Amino acid sequence: MAELGDAITRDYAGETVIMVGVLKGSAFFLADLARSVHIDCTFDFVAVSSYKKGSRSTSGAVKLLKDLDEPIEGKHVIIVEDILDTGITLGYLRKIFLQHKPKSLKIAACLDKPARRVEPIEADYVGFSIPNQFVIGYGMDYAEKFRNLPDICILPPDFPA
Ligand code: XMP
Ligand code: MG
Repeated sequence: MAELGDAITRDYAGETVIMVGVLKGSAFFLADLARSVHIDCTFDFVAVSSYKKGSRSTSGAVKLLKDLDEPIEGKHVIIVEDILDTGITLGYLRKIFLQHKPKSLKIAACLDKPARRVEPIEADYVGFSIPNQFVIGYGMDYAEKFRNLPDICILPPDFPA
């Protein structure tokens, strides 16, 4: 976390950044990342849904459930996401955020599953690159459960739906 925070602190020295957390999975990551970043920053949150309830894979259709509260035009924005998986969610968010003309737009992802990518999108700041396994804990869920596990854990493939 310190390394990611240092990189952001360095890249935005003297600037103010809006960190936009993607609810709900990014909550713990945003909280830790923000405390490792030593620049002026504010928070905003969006919520999207791309999963069929109880499913482990994206439905492919992203819906914006909660929009930004504050305008991002002319501002430095970092989207903070738990996992960059197929890239469909972040591809969608990037597209709509760019329409608001931010001064810059970057992506911080706690985890990256590059093997699953469908959309050509990469994060600017990545915690860990992981293989194609479903993970829970540290904010991440399976059917809304297990977000409160303090560590990131692999959900066994035979775990009942
Ligand atoms: P896409 O495929 O659009 O998906 O890049 C990003 C979203 O999918 C969720 N996701 C997971 N959630 N464990 C989870 O709890 C996982 O292993 C996992 N893989 C993807 C995640 O919420 C992310 O926002
Ligand atoms: Mg998410």
